[in-house]
Amino acid sequence: MPEKTFHIHTIGCQMNVYDADLMANALMAMGYRPVTEPEAADLAIVNTCAIREKAEQKVYSLLGRLAGLKRQRTTMRIAVGGCVAQLAGKRIQRRAPYVDLVFGTRALERLPELVRRLDAGEGPLCDVAGGEGVMEMDGPRQAVVQPRVSRFVTIMQGCDNFCTYCVVPYARGREMSRDPGRIVAEVQDLVADGAREVTLLGQNVNSYGNKEGLCGFAELLRRVAAVEGLERIRFTTSHPKDLSPALIDAFACIDRLCDHIHLPVQSGSDRILARMNRRYGRQTYMDLVTRLRAVRPEIAITSDIIVGFPGETEEDFNQTLDLIKTVGFDGLFAFHYSDRPGTPACRFTPKVTLGVKRRRLEALNELQNAATLARHRSLVGTTVAVLVEGASKRCDQLDPHGGEAIQWTGRTSSNKIVNFSQPSSTEVPPANVGDLCQVRIEAAFAHSLLGVRAPEAVGLKGEACHAA
Ligand code: 5AD
Ligand code: SF4
Repeated sequence: MPEKTFHIHTIGCQMNVYDADLMANALMAMGYRPVTEPEAADLAIVNTCAIREKAEQKVYSLLGRLAGLKRQRTTMRIAVGGCVAQLAGKRIQRRAPYVDLVFGTRALERLPELVRRLDAGEGPLCDVAGGEGVMEMDGPRQAVVQPRVSRFVTIMQGCDNFCTYCVVPYARGREMSRDPGRIVAEVQDLVADGAREVTLLGQNVNSYGNKEGLCGFAELLRRVAAVEGLERIRFTTSHPKDLSPALIDAFACIDRLCDHIHLPVQSGSDRILARMNRRYGRQTYMDLVTRLRAVRPEIAITSDIIVGFPGETEEDFNQTLDLIKTVGFDGLFAFHYSDRPGTPACRFTPKVTLGVKRRRLEALNELQNAATLARHRSLVGTTVAVLVEGASKRCDQLDPHGGEAIQWTGRTSSNKIVNFSQPSSTEVPPANVGDLCQVRIEAAFAHSLLGVRAPEAVGLKGEACHAA
C-alpha cells in the first residue's frame, strides 16, 4: 500500500504547537508522512483555537478551503482537533458535513485509533470524551513543527482559575500536572535530539504540582536546569496571583533560566481586575515587577491586555495606560474583548462598542510600540548572545560588511528576535544552528534586531554587554 501523507494547520498558542508535534509523531509511527501543503495530504488536520472569536472564524474559513480540495480529491480526509473541536463537537460536522473526524483536547492519545477507523472506511467520527490527553503520552521525539533547537514541553494541562472572560477551563478541562520525572526524561530526550532550549508550558505554570502534591514549579525548574547539554530554559504562562517567592528566587539562582517572564496583567484597573476574577490588584502586580527586577535587573517583562472588557470606562482604560507606562513592558499582546459562549462575562453589561474597543486598542498599541522600539534602539551598539534557530526568512539583505548574504535568526535570552549576518573576516568562525553566538546589534526595528556576528568571549550569562 502506498505511504499516506498528512498536513497539520495549527492555530493558536504554543500548547497547540506542542500538540501538533504529538499528533505528527503519532501519525508517523503509523506510517504517515508529513507534507508541507494540504493539497498533497491524504489527511488534513486543523488544530484549532477558541480563545477569541477571530481564531474561531479562521477555523471555518480554513475548513471551507479544505472542502474545495476534497471535492477535487475525494479520498482526502479532513480532521478537526484542539479547543474548537472540544467545545463544538458534532456541531462542527453539522456546519461542515465534509469533516470526517472531530477529536477533542483530551482525545489526543486516541488519534491513532481514530485514524485507523477512518482508514478502514468508517466515518464521520467525533470523539470529545474525557481522557488523560498529554498526561500519559510520551512527548514528541521528533520536531516536525517546532524548531529543533528550541522545543516546547507541556508540563500541565487545563486551568482551574475561571477568569470570567476565558474559555480555556471549558476547552482544556481541569488543571492536571505531569509527573516531574517524566518531564525531566522528556527534556533529556529532546537535548539528545539537538534541543538547546526548552520552554515549559502550562496555562498557569506557577501552580504546577500543587493539586497533586508534586514538587513545586521552582523545584521543577531546578531539576530541568540540571539536564546536561541544555543552555536555556523558558516558561509560559504565569498567573500573577500564584507567582511565588520561590519562583522569584529561581531567577536569582538559576543561570540557565532566561531573562524573560510573560506575566499577563489583563488590565490596570482594580475594578476591572475584580470583574475578571483575576484575584490580584494593580499594586500587587507592580510589586511583583519590582521584586523580579531586584533579583534580575535585566529581566524582560511581557504581558497580555484585554481592552473593552464589559463595563470598562475611559477611567479604567486610562489606569491600564498608566500601568503600562509605569511598568515599562518589553512587549505586549493586546486584544479587544470578545464574548466567548458559556463564560460568565458574556452576561456582563454594559458591553463596550466595537468602535470604542478599536480606538482603545489602537491607543494602547501606539504607546507600547514606541516603548518597544525605544528598548530595541537602546540595544544598538551592544553585544548580545543569540541562540541560532535557523536561516533567516529575509536572506535578501546583504551584509553591509561584505560578508556572505546568508542571515541567521535566533533569540536573545530576553526573547528578542535577532537576525544577523556573518562577517567575512576569518577570526569569526561560521555559525551553525544550535550555536550560542555573540552578535553586535547594528539596527533596531519594531519586532526584531539586526546585527553582525562578533568575536566570542563577550557577555555575561549570555546577556547584553556594552562592549565597544
Ligand atoms: N477576549 C479577548 N481576549 C481574551 N483572552 C482570553 N480570553 C479572551 C477574550 N474572551 C486573551 C487574554 C489571555 C490571552 C491568551 O488571550 O489576554 O491572556
Ligand atoms: Fe484563562 Fe485565566 Fe486560566 Fe489563563 S488563568 S487560561 S486567562 S482562565
